[in-house]
Amino acid sequence: METRSFLTLEDTSREDLREVLDLARAYAGGHVREALAGKTVCLAFFEASTRTAVSFELAAKRSGADVISLSEKGSAIAKGESLIDTVVTLDRLGADAIVLRHPSAGAAALASHHTAAPVINAGDGCGQHPTQALLDLYALSDALGGFEELAGRRLTIVGDVLHSRVARSVIPGFVRAGIEVSLVAPRTLLPPDAGAWGLPVLSSVDDAIEWGADVLYMLRLQRERMTGARIPSVAEYARFYGVARRHLHSGLLVMHPGPVNRGVEISGDVVLDASSLIPDQVAAGICVRSAVLALSTGVAQRAAA
Ligand code: NCD
Repeated sequence: METRSFLTLEDTSREDLREVLDLARAYAGGHVREALAGKTVCLAFFEASTRTAVSFELAAKRSGADVISLSEKGSAIAKGESLIDTVVTLDRLGADAIVLRHPSAGAAALASHHTAAPVINAGDGCGQHPTQALLDLYALSDALGGFEELAGRRLTIVGDVLHSRVARSVIPGFVRAGIEVSLVAPRTLLPPDAGAWGLPVLSSVDDAIEWGADVLYMLRLQRERMTGARIPSVAEYARFYGVARRHLHSGLLVMHPGPVNRGVEISGDVVLDASSLIPDQVAAGICVRSAVLALSTGVAQRAAA
């Protein structure tokens, strides 16, 4: 069975996106049972996580896999064991897939060179978070009536792009799906090479609405990754880069990968408003991650049959 790692969305084609989303849809419809029976999925989370960790665990268990969970605390990493030695150990113990979250960009790619098991990047520092982008595409296409409905929509990514692995995955994902993407961020929170994306950069959420955004994709202000003062004050940031009820014109959708800083990038009364896809994004995590696990371990054909 052919296996493949999921490390980045940077060079993923539209067809590849569709393949994952179609399988995820079949799984959501109840075809997931026993897809991964006999497989061992190792969840190695060396950085905090709620949604990603729980949904990967549910995705693996509902597909019938044996699941091993490892975190920094309680594993030999706490004794100073290296990532490579940890991955080799998991490989020798029989992992059929390794789901890795790690604080360093590039960690998942590095890990993939030291195991025959496919590695699924569940977030590597400021690098990539491919399954987040896939579940976002799933939730948004569901809300709009199908994958084909994504083409030509306007979506603005707002906030701390600099520190966001989510942004680095959703940008190629959304663009490949035919969505017109723009960015809103203070200059201090844009990567120096942001121009390479070739996306319009707007000044505020108000400007994004004027540009005709159908969707606002809000990013968390990632203070734990900031090395110096990047914004004058949180209150001022919220004024220009936060979404508030006054922005919610009819039909506008709001997305956020979570966890949310309520009152900073998104006002408390918008988080669970009817315009918010945040709960749908979370829910989509299970079937999308089941699909990714099945495709990465090569059992998808068996599952779909
Ligand atoms: C994101 C992450 O950890 O990269 N959250 C998630 O996986 N749902 C985004 C974030 O931490 O802001």
